[in-house]
Amino acid sequence: MVIFLNYKITEQKIKGILSKNKSTTILQDVVDVLYESFEKYSWVGVYRVKGNVLVLGPWKGKQATEHTNISIGKGVCGSAARTGKTEVVDDVSIDSRYLSCFRSTQSEIVVPIKKKNRVIGEIDIDSDVPAAFNKTDELFLEKIADMLYQHI
Ligand code: SME
Repeated sequence: MVIFLNYKITEQKIKGILSKNKSTTILQDVVDVLYESFEKYSWVGVYRVKGNVLVLGPWKGKQATEHTNISIGKGVCGSAARTGKTEVVDDVSIDSRYLSCFRSTQSEIVVPIKKKNRVIGEIDIDSDVPAAFNKTDELFLEKIADMLYQHI
C-alpha cells in the first residue's frame, strides 16, 4: 500500500511541475523527481529524437553516461525508439542489445514518449537492482511519458 502510494504522490508532484508550464527546467525537474522518489531508479534520463539519433537531454544519477547519442535501432534505447514499445530488461548482462553505461546497472526500462504515435523521445531508467521494473513501474512511467510529450 505504502509502495503504491509513492507512485501516486510522484505522479501528483510531476503534474504540479507540468502545470506551472513556464519553467525552462520542466524536464530536468521531472527527471529529478523520478530519481529522488524511487531508490531503485539509479539513473534517470530523457532522450530526444533528432533525425535518426536519440540525443540525451536532462538526466540525474551518480555518473554521466558516454551514450549521449544513440542511433535509432541501436541498444535497448534505440529498439524502443524504433518499435514505439516499452522495453523492460530484467538482466542487462544477457541482453545482446544492451549498451553498457554503468558497471552497477542490473536492469533497465525504456519508455517511448510519443506525439500522435510518432516517437519523439524516451524515458530511460537504469537500476542497480536486478529485475527492478514491474508492471506498476511500466504503467506508471507510460503515464508520465504521455504527460511529457508537449515538453520535449
Ligand atoms: N543502456 C542503454 C544506453 C543508455 S544508458 O543506459 C544511460 C541502451 O542499451 O540503449
